[in-house]
Amino acid sequence: MNFLSKKNISIIGGAGHIGLPLALAFTEKKFNVHLIDKNKKNLNLIKSNKMPFLEFGAEKSLSKALKKKLLCFETNLEKLYLSKYVIICIGTPINSKLKPNLKDFFKLIKKLKKYINQNQLIIVRSSIYPGTIEKIKKILKNKNNNIVYCPERIVQSKSLIELPKLPQIIATDKIKIFQETKTLFQKITAKIIKTSILEAELIKLYSNANRYINFAIANQLFAICHLHKLNFDRVRSIMQDGYARNLNLAKAGLTSGPCLLKDTMQLKSFFNNSFELGTAAMKVNEKIPDLIIEKLKKFSNFRKKTIGLLGLAFKGETDDIRDSLSIKLLKKLKRLKLNVLVSDEYYKNNDTISVEKLILKSKIIIIGAPHKKYLKLKILKKNKNVINIWGTEYN
Ligand SMILES: NC(=O)c1ccc[n+]([C@@H]2O[C@H](COP(=O)([O-])OP(=O)(O)OC[C@H]3O[C@@H](n4cnc5c(N)ncnc54)[C@H](O)[C@@H]3O)[C@@H](O)[C@H]2O)c1
Repeated sequence: MNFLSKKNISIIGGAGHIGLPLALAFTEKKFNVHLIDKNKKNLNLIKSNKMPFLEFGAEKSLSKALKKKLLCFETNLEKLYLSKYVIICIGTPINSKLKPNLKDFFKLIKKLKKYINQNQLIIVRSSIYPGTIEKIKKILKNKNNNIVYCPERIVQSKSLIELPKLPQIIATDKIKIFQETKTLFQKITAKIIKTSILEAELIKLYSNANRYINFAIANQLFAICHLHKLNFDRVRSIMQDGYARNLNLAKAGLTSGPCLLKDTMQLKSFFNNSFELGTAAMKVNEKIPDLIIEKLKKFSNFRKKTIGLLGLAFKGETDDIRDSLSIKLLKKLKRLKLNVLVSDEYYKNNDTISVEKLILKSKIIIIGAPHKKYLKLKILKKNKNVINIWGTEYN
C-alpha cells in the first residue's frame, strides 16, 4: 500500500464503537483499512486479535482481517494520502451544560488540511450538530471539496448484523461524489438513500430523539403506575392485547447511553433551546434511578440488607457503561451508605463479582441492565426481593 488506492480506506476513530465494526465490514469486502486512533491501548488490543468492546460477530471478522493483513494501525494522519476514502468516526460529545462540544472535532478537521488532497472523499460518519458539514466545507475548501455525510444508524453491539440490512443515507450536493460514495457503501449494504446534507444531519438526531422520547413516555407511565401501586408491565400488556394502536408503547427502563440523550440535546441546541419534548424526556428518564430508590425504601429494614445491582451497562447485551443510568444509580446507593454488590455479564472491573455470588449474598436485587442471561436465573425462586423495571420476566 504505497499509493492512493480505491481499495484503501482510512477510518479516523477506527478503534471506536462505530469505526471498528465499520472497518471490519469493509475488510470482509477485501478493502485495506487503516485504523487511525489516538487510543493506543485499543489499537494494541485489536492488533493482538482482541476486540476492545463487545460487538457480536466481530471476533471472527477481526481474525480474518488480521490473517489477510487487511488492517493497518496508526495514531497519526501521515499515511492518509494512501486512502481514497477517509471516514471520520470520532466522538461528538456535549458539555456539562448539555451543549454540543465540537472543539476536538474541528481541531481534527483543521489538522486534516495538511494531509488531504482533491482526489479523496471525506466521509463524516459521526452524529453531528446540524450545519457542521457546511462548516467543514469552508475549512477544507482549498484542499478538498468532496465532503459527504453518511450518518451511522446501527444499534451499538449489533453493527455487523445491522450494517448489511440498514439503508445507507448519503448526503452531498455533488452528484459525482454521491455516485462514488454509493459505489463504496453498496459493497456493504443493499439500499442507498440520497438526501440533502441538512436532511441527513436532522434524520440522525431525529432518530435518536424519537427513541429517547418514546422511552420517556413508557417511563412516565411507569412512574404513574408506581404512584398508584399498579404493575406497569401488566397495564402495558393489556393495552397491547389485540390493540395494535398501542404496540408502539415501549417498555420502561434505565434509558441512557452515549447517544440518545446527547443527540436529543444537540437537537435542543439547534432549536434555540425550545425543544420542550426533548427536555421533558430528559427529566423523566434521568429520574428513573430515584424511582428505583423509592421502591427500594419500601422494603423493610432495607438499610440493613445487602443490595445486589445486577447489570451496570447502559442497556442489555452490551459491555458499555458510558453514561449508564445503572452506574448513576450505584453512585446514589453508595451515597446512601448502603451495602451494594455489583455484577455485570459483560462489563468487569475490580468491584464486580459473579452473578451467582451476587444472588447468593444479596437480599434485594436490582436489575440494572437486562442482559439476556439474567432471564434464566430464577432469582425470585431463590426467595429474593427483586426490583426490575425493564418489563422482562424474572421467575
Ligand atoms: N455508539 C453508537 O451506538 C453510535 C451509533 C451511531 C452513531 N454514533 C456516533 O458515532 C460517533 C462515535 O461514537 P462511538 O460510540 O464510536 O465513540 P467511541 O468513543 O467509541 O469512538 C471514537 C474513537 O475516536 C477516537 N478519537 C477521538 N478523537 C480522535 C482523533 N482526533 N484522532 C484519532 N482518533 C480519535 C477515540 O480514541 C475513540 O476510539 C459519535 O458521533 C456518536 O454519536 C454512535
